[in-house]
Amino acid sequence: MNTSTHEIADRIYRISTCVPDAAPGGFTFNQFLVDADEPLLFHTGPRRMFPLVSAAVARILPLERLRWITFGHVEADECGAMNELLAAAPLAEVAHGATGCMVSLDDLCDRPPRKLADGEVIDLGGRRVRHIDTPHVPHNWEARVLFEETTGTLFCGDLFTHAGDGPAITDADIVGPALAAEELFHATALSPATGTTIRRLAALEPRTLALMHGSSTHTRCGESLRTLADAYDRMTRQL
Ligand SMILES: [Fe+2]
Ligand SMILES: [Fe+2]
Repeated sequence: MNTSTHEIADRIYRISTCVPDAAPGGFTFNQFLVDADEPLLFHTGPRRMFPLVSAAVARILPLERLRWITFGHVEADECGAMNELLAAAPLAEVAHGATGCMVSLDDLCDRPPRKLADGEVIDLGGRRVRHIDTPHVPHNWEARVLFEETTGTLFCGDLFTHAGDGPAITDADIVGPALAAEELFHATALSPATGTTIRRLAALEPRTLALMHGSSTHTRCGESLRTLADAYDRMTRQL
């Protein structure tokens, strides 16, 4: 497995590892490093990927400078290496919504996590990340996303998940591949609130969508979120 690094927005780096057997054409596991006075990582990668991810971070900044460890929800690919990172970066804290802390992270984290209220902003010094609760979207009660306000980057986690080892940034449609992957994985928790929650993210009018699985994009971000919301609404009505 190779891990590549690409700056997808000003001082925001996508660290990407493709696992060939995880899906037809491969499946990428991406982490995002925000290089600021207080550096932040969104997704840790699975525990077994820690050597690859930590080496990739260390090529951009010293690992021990990492201040914030964040992720969308509690699954191995999102946060499996959080305790390895806490050990490697003595100033680092896990930051997550109150639900995630109460249900899982207060117990799972080797150091107590920082609990964030919906809409709360962490000023990283040069970058500002807003925590947004998105319960059950795309899955898990504690689900959330992060919006970096100065670059307009939405770290949207598993939303738009698609297979393949595409480029770091694509101008192509990301909704079609996401719906094809949905047919394969059935990973989204469809509910009457799914579309509404995604439309709320579209209203942010992000300039970059940073995807955990697949290519990120600068193109038609709000429109793609609204199209995805409409598709999930249609699927929900068919349940
Ligand atoms: Fe997930
Ligand atoms: Fe994921």
